[in-house]
Amino acid sequence: LDDGQALVPPMGLNTWNAFGANISEAVVKEMADLMESLGLVAAGYRYLVLDDGWSDPERTQDGRLQADRQRFPSGKRPACLPNSIKALSGYLAGKGLLLGVYSDSGGFTCQGFPGSRGHEAEDARSFADWGVSLLKYDNCYTHDDLLERFVAMRDALNATGRPILYQLCEWGIGDPWLWGPRVAHTWRTTFDIHSSWASVMQNLDESIGLARYAGPGHWNDLDLLEVGTFGPQPNGWEGVHGASLGPEPGGAWQWATPPRVRGQYLSEKEERAHFALWAILKSPLFIAADLRRMAASSLAILRSKEVIAINQDPLGVPGDLIWKSGPKEIYAASLSGGGRAVVLHNRHSILSHLQAANITVRWAQLGYAPEERAAVRDLYRQQDLGMHAGSFTAEVRLHDVAVLRITPQDPQPAQEAWRP
Ligand code: GLA
Repeated sequence: LDDGQALVPPMGLNTWNAFGANISEAVVKEMADLMESLGLVAAGYRYLVLDDGWSDPERTQDGRLQADRQRFPSGKRPACLPNSIKALSGYLAGKGLLLGVYSDSGGFTCQGFPGSRGHEAEDARSFADWGVSLLKYDNCYTHDDLLERFVAMRDALNATGRPILYQLCEWGIGDPWLWGPRVAHTWRTTFDIHSSWASVMQNLDESIGLARYAGPGHWNDLDLLEVGTFGPQPNGWEGVHGASLGPEPGGAWQWATPPRVRGQYLSEKEERAHFALWAILKSPLFIAADLRRMAASSLAILRSKEVIAINQDPLGVPGDLIWKSGPKEIYAASLSGGGRAVVLHNRHSILSHLQAANITVRWAQLGYAPEERAAVRDLYRQQDLGMHAGSFTAEVRLHDVAVLRITPQDPQPAQEAWRP
């Protein structure tokens, strides 16, 4: 939407994959405290989104949504005290965080709580009154036209006068990249992600070629980050794609899944690859981990300042796949100032995990003159790798990435306009 919101992809934490519908005021406050103390707020994660399960199964007598009164106990106090969700948004504001909530464009949410169909105006009004700053809007229990349902809530949010970031969850149904820019700030390109490498790669592959539809105010959402998450997940769907070990969707057996950290479903290299790919494709970056039990390596990935800076670059041009040869892939995006972000990705699964691949990016692939001299920087390691003419080669291990910023010595204004 062209209303000045989401000029860069939104960043935050969403409760769904770690907690399912079993969320409470206490746990959300704990996550907020940890987002602050672990430096995630400072790193740019601004939204804390209550996904499905926050609401009471019944609306109030006058038809309003209300939070579950057991799990959000502030709501039990005398009526003169603020509603529990309003109290929560106040608590978050004190941490530099914005509250997001979830609802559904059908009669019920996917977990069977009240949906907003037919109640768009009063629900939008409640969200605005409670100080909500983001709405994730789902697609379960629906009967009528998809576009009409999502437009109805867009208009209801707009009528409140409060800026509320509008995050569609239509699972990639109905080519949302074609109409999404007029309806919402983000739309999902795929069904739900799970904590497995196969699921991460599936969401990536289904989002290739969509960069051209996204930009400031309207982004492709590849779904939540499986960095620091554990399986099995609360919705019990992790078996759909299986864990990292096992036959891949194409039938090839994966032999060489690297050891996992403390039972995590993705290895550290896989988490690093996942995060960099979401960053360069300019997906919203929403943490889905339980911050109380996350490996230090996962936290370091989520706080990678220079990788986040690719995602948050003010030019707002999403990257895309620009070259592929077997398991070797190159993704690139324009950055403000005429530079490029580049992710060299080795997705090979079958060879021994000791084996790495050399991947070369040529300047001509990035819209630069072949003889141009450019500075190369490794963004995860935060290390300058020197000046290079024509190309750069990195050795990339299995399921790993090299994340680079390429900055020409004499950037030309026209170089900003390059698109993958
Ligand atoms: C759907 C969505 C998920 C999550 C659940 C909650 O599956 O795609 O992201 O919101 O509903 O029930």
